[in-house]
Amino acid sequence: MQIRHLMNPLDFTTKELDDLFDLANDIEKCPAKYAHACEGRKLASCFYEPSTRTRLSFESAMLGLGGQVLGFSDAACSSASKGESVSDTIRVISCFADICAMRHPKEGAPMVAAGKSTIPVINAGDGGHQHPTQTLTDLLTIRSLKGRLGSFTIGLCGDLKFGRTVHSLINALVRYPNIHFIFISPPELKVPDYITDMLREKEIAYDEVIRLEECMPDLDLLYMTRVQRERFFNEEDYVRLKDFYILNKTKLALAKDDMLILHPLPRVNEISVEVDEDPRAVYFKQVQYGVYVRMALILTLLGITVS
Ligand code: CP
Repeated sequence: MQIRHLMNPLDFTTKELDDLFDLANDIEKCPAKYAHACEGRKLASCFYEPSTRTRLSFESAMLGLGGQVLGFSDAACSSASKGESVSDTIRVISCFADICAMRHPKEGAPMVAAGKSTIPVINAGDGGHQHPTQTLTDLLTIRSLKGRLGSFTIGLCGDLKFGRTVHSLINALVRYPNIHFIFISPPELKVPDYITDMLREKEIAYDEVIRLEECMPDLDLLYMTRVQRERFFNEEDYVRLKDFYILNKTKLALAKDDMLILHPLPRVNEISVEVDEDPRAVYFKQVQYGVYVRMALILTLLGITVS
């Protein structure tokens, strides 16, 4: 069987994504049915960059399927600190595990690993580039809670320049019909030109605004993001921009009653904690969907079916 990796959400067709999300929803409904599906299989979680959700949800997903987990959570604790290349590391990991989830600060590193791997490699976030399993999580959350993928207005707010979750999500959503994007950011953190060029080419509607209040009443979905200190070259710019958007109850009062608020997390200041109790705030439910979709992904890439 040919090895299948996941580098980009577009690696799966929309039909394959529908099947994956149906499987994730079935796992949500009947977790016991899947509790032994990966017995005897091992996941290597190779994280060269910090993570709470992605790493632990992959590990939770594999444990929930009856499999086992090994790996490292810090490049400094791996032989990368002695100069080992990603290509050599994955050849070694291929001897230890059946599937690998890899996060790396360098864009394209998981792709390089996939080229040398004899086991499926999942990109768990590469620099400012892609974060496909976050996108699968976001799509599953939207599909499960809105009942559809398509025919909505989505506002993406915050760091649209460096945010890999935003870039991955836009790329994935353009395949669904009737989506209107509203990009909400300060001029310094605007969505990159290659994305707006792509939207114009595909004749997909988008607007760019600076103030959240300007578009709040129009939104069906609001995707908040953090201004990422780790992607800035100087502290002064980070400090100037970090509190540009803070979603609080006053701003939320302008929104539709059924608007959903998503956030890939971690949150810093951009959503006030007073918003957490609002039924429209679904970012912690989103984390739970992240486990179901990673369980479905592991099963799919390992070619395991459960009847
Ligand atoms: N959403 C996300 O990628 O979170 P972590 O960095 O904690 O994995």
